[in-house]
Amino acid sequence: MRILVTGGAGFIGSVIAASLIEAGHEVVVLDDLRYGHCAAVPAGAGFVKASVEDASAVMAAFRETSFDAVVHLAGEASVGESALDPGRFYTVNLQGGINVLEGMRCTGVERIIFSSTASIFGEPDRIPITETNSQKPINAYGETKLAFEKALKWYRRSFGIRHVSFRYFNACGATATHGEDRVKETHLIPILLQVVLGIRPEITLFGTDYPTPDRTCVRDYVHVADIAQAHLLGLDRIDELEEAAYNLGSGTGNSNLEVIETARKVTGHPIPVKIGDRRPGDPAVLVAGSDLAREVLGWDPQYAHIEQMVQSAWDWRSNFPDGYPK
Ligand SMILES: NC(=O)c1ccc[n+]([C@@H]2O[C@H](COP(=O)([O-])OP(=O)(O)OC[C@H]3O[C@@H](n4cnc5c(N)ncnc54)[C@H](O)[C@@H]3O)[C@@H](O)[C@H]2O)c1
Repeated sequence: MRILVTGGAGFIGSVIAASLIEAGHEVVVLDDLRYGHCAAVPAGAGFVKASVEDASAVMAAFRETSFDAVVHLAGEASVGESALDPGRFYTVNLQGGINVLEGMRCTGVERIIFSSTASIFGEPDRIPITETNSQKPINAYGETKLAFEKALKWYRRSFGIRHVSFRYFNACGATATHGEDRVKETHLIPILLQVVLGIRPEITLFGTDYPTPDRTCVRDYVHVADIAQAHLLGLDRIDELEEAAYNLGSGTGNSNLEVIETARKVTGHPIPVKIGDRRPGDPAVLVAGSDLAREVLGWDPQYAHIEQMVQSAWDWRSNFPDGYPK
């Protein structure tokens, strides 16, 4: 297939783009590089520097190349920033997504895989969080992702555009060639590695009074290569799938303290910890139920343990201590 990957210069998008190329697909990345890196665009992929907010640039990309499918990752993803600037999240995540759908509609592209998030569920009414949990986002980030999931349903009904939404839990890890490198890092594992590399003096632990065994938040970590595998399976099956949304997590919860301890073990660094207050809107436990993806798609994650995930992230960081060339 010839596939447009929006956000393909970012962490998850670059790994997916590389996996698609390895599987024999042709890939064009569309990214405005606000967070991504030119050097992360995999060899062999075409590149269009444009924002999904720019409807005419998006349309031009669709008119330039005849695509069979889209993998749509471009978006704003910081929960904290979504509280400060919800309008930007609606513009990029919802209107930007509609611009992509309109480009597809006008040029006859009928398949899209969308990067959604566990944040569409808000405070979970049940753990593990399955596809039948209630969807009540508690921040603008989750709300805009859910709104676009719903838009996909209507584009399917009106225009026959087939879609699959994957709700990632905490994406992490790295491949030999691609890893996490953000200017404003908010994710636990890359922050821990920044401490190891001396870029930060310590890690702040937000809240040590949660109702969990070690009193710190529990999250579900899923390796980026396993996320990429799900996208390949989703593309293979998209024409026949009735289920359109799948949770992607390892199904295992790891507390913040466990992840810190794992990073200490993997890197051999003491990693000093500062205790901070809880952040508003941080649920105590978020763990995925991903049986549907396993049963329907045959998803078979290869990185089940947090140690493997942290080790792969550390291997990448050790090889590229400055991240991607800027
Ligand atoms: N990282 C996670 O744990 C996680 C969890 C759930 C969902 N997601 C979703 O997965 C997607 C990718 O996340 P990531 O962690 O790789 O983030 P990332 O910031 O590394 O990648 C996002 C990419 O999108 C690009 N982008 C952003 N806005 C754009 C715009 N308006 N036009 C064109 N390009 C734009 C950025 O430059 C970047 O390259 C996001 O949509 C995010 O919401 C991520």
